[in-house]
Amino acid sequence: MDLISKIKELKREKNAIVLTHCYQNIEIDEVSDFVGDSLYLSKMAAQTNADIIVFAGVYFMAQSAKLLSPNKKVLLPNLNSGCMMADMINVENLKSFKDRNPNIPVVCYINSTAEVKANCDVCCTSSNAIEVVKNLNSDKVLFVPDNFLGKYVQHKLPNIEIITFNGYCPIHQRIRLEEIERARKNYPNAMILTHPECNQEVAKRSDFIGSTKEIMEYVKKSDKKQFVIATEKGVVDRLNRDSKKEGWNKEFILIDENIICPDMKKNSLDSIYNTLLKEENVIEIDLDVAKKATKCIEKMFEITSPIKNC
Ligand code: 13P
Ligand code: SF4
Repeated sequence: MDLISKIKELKREKNAIVLTHCYQNIEIDEVSDFVGDSLYLSKMAAQTNADIIVFAGVYFMAQSAKLLSPNKKVLLPNLNSGCMMADMINVENLKSFKDRNPNIPVVCYINSTAEVKANCDVCCTSSNAIEVVKNLNSDKVLFVPDNFLGKYVQHKLPNIEIITFNGYCPIHQRIRLEEIERARKNYPNAMILTHPECNQEVAKRSDFIGSTKEIMEYVKKSDKKQFVIATEKGVVDRLNRDSKKEGWNKEFILIDENIICPDMKKNSLDSIYNTLLKEENVIEIDLDVAKKATKCIEKMFEITSPIKNC
């Protein structure tokens, strides 16, 4: 039996599902129940009746799944798949950021550890950050850890003062304005779609800014034929696959071949199979931390769209 069939059989036997972020190696989709962005996968984790969730993503995503589904076994195929942005903030530097800016609500991007979430007021993802900040009804907000996403929200909500922590995604940060200008010259008819983790200059010169899933949905609906994508390679791989399979006759070009997140690429069909077979790499979170971090995520659903609505 091939590996894909073996994983599918194990999933059936163990009542397991595989949740997959769209930056993962594309072959993982073959065994996945849901593929999407952080918000969508969090909702799927909260709603599932499965006993086991195998999270094909990075550590903070598997932690969020565990927080939203505390009675399920959540497995991460490679426990070393971290997030360089999430690692830029910890409880200590968060505390000094808060001390320097007292009595202001703290919005925490989901790309952060459970410990950091436990010390923030409300969580957000790239697809609902604007909605979360707006619905806080505060004229000042602290935003951690991604300063670029924070600045993007600031641009959209000029009446709220957003004080950003100085974290960033080293992968998206590599995308430069010059590359956008070059793409405009080389593909004059193409639309340029960008993730809000990119810097402000890049975002301003783009035609659309959205989460990975929003980008994928936008291009499907668009009547344009050529798109330059300024986010991780996994998105472009999936779009070119779907265009071929579904006969969209659309072309997707990655802004720069080096926009690959090494942590996202640590999972494989092999590691998914072994993790599920042995039920290892179980995500565990300290109970007190989990209680506070869950509140931070639940507040996001409270002030935006409910979990059931996706
Ligand atoms: P999305 O929520 O858009 O999937 O982003 C997650 C991420 O890590 C982007 O770098
Ligand atoms: Fe983290 Fe950047 Fe990788 Fe996303 S692409 S998981 S933000 S390091």
